[in-house]
Amino acid sequence: MALSNNSPADLSQLINLFDFEQMAATKMTRMAYEYVASGAADEVTLRWNREAFDHIKLNTTVLNNLNYPDTKLSLFGQELEHPILIAPTAFHKIMHPDAEIATAKGAGAASTVYVVSSFTTTPLEEIVKVATQPLWFQLYVRDDRIYTKDLIQKAESLGYQALCVTVDTPTPGIRDRQAKVGFALPDDVIAHYSLGEIGAPKNPITWKDIEWLQSFTKIPVLLKGILNPEDAIKAVQTGVDGIVVSNHGARNLDTVPSTIEVLPRVAEKIDNKIPILLDGGIRRGTDVIKAIALGAKAVLIGKPICYGLACGGAQGVAKVIQILKDELLLAMILTGRNSLLKIDQSVIWH
Ligand SMILES: Cc1cc2nc3c(=O)[nH]c(=O)nc-3n(C[C@H](O)[C@H](O)[C@H](O)COP(=O)(O)O)c2cc1C
Repeated sequence: MALSNNSPADLSQLINLFDFEQMAATKMTRMAYEYVASGAADEVTLRWNREAFDHIKLNTTVLNNLNYPDTKLSLFGQELEHPILIAPTAFHKIMHPDAEIATAKGAGAASTVYVVSSFTTTPLEEIVKVATQPLWFQLYVRDDRIYTKDLIQKAESLGYQALCVTVDTPTPGIRDRQAKVGFALPDDVIAHYSLGEIGAPKNPITWKDIEWLQSFTKIPVLLKGILNPEDAIKAVQTGVDGIVVSNHGARNLDTVPSTIEVLPRVAEKIDNKIPILLDGGIRRGTDVIKAIALGAKAVLIGKPICYGLACGGAQGVAKVIQILKDELLLAMILTGRNSLLKIDQSVIWH
């Protein structure tokens, strides 16, 4: 694998999240960049994840005597400074030598939750040592349920504060761009907690497994990767604590809808019974406000964090979150909303 250009980028030049992608493309190995940037197959959904946000118009109200907006929220009993979380993404070592350690430090500096991937290249116990904000753990349920149970209990005992079970990946999608560059992990990069079974589950995960893992898990359980409103109903019936509306960053099944398009229908079915989070294509503060208006309590971002990491390690990660948070604040002021609770459907121009 060709070496990446590890000299830190001049972060002051990076004004928005799209700038990070451009800069990251010059910092990462070609293989790593293609791994992060690519979507499934023809990348139709990848485009829709962005375009759908662009097509939603915002509505303003003026002369509201607004105080400075408050972005705080409470989620699963955790008090968060703002609603922008770090989505689980695999293999941070191919993006920056400090890998998940840098991501956790960046999350701390930007006061946000970091959802650590099952495919972390740093052991869970080492990430905990540097974290100053809540960590959550993203789980792929493995064929070996004893291993799966041990892993959940390990994450719990280390202090991970929620379990995000990814349910949309019984097999990875078609990733043409990765295939073209022959994506493979370098020999010195180890994906922890991955047993290499993905692609051919002998013991596929079902709703019964969700009941099973809830029977012993002491931290809140979220299902990540819900698109179908009927699945959202089942999620509530199964008693999970929350869901993430996600199409896996458009990396799994091409031509599924964008997440923001799906959100209102899922929200209608969930009917405020459990919190909904959303990820996929969030790049601007206006995207965050739209997601909240249409029913999300918080959002997660994936690719921009990988680019932030590649450009500037912990500082890059923190800056990505900070930019998005600042943009959200401005969007709140300009739409006349001084708290997240005031962001409702009336923020959308119908
Ligand atoms: C490089 C990369 C690796 C990912 N790895 C995981 C993973 O290990 N587990 C998981 O649940 N989702 C994974 N995802 C999906 C993200 O958690 C998230 O759903 C998606 O990136 C959000 O869309 P965005 O990248 O447009 O923000 C990954 C996404 C990317 C881009």
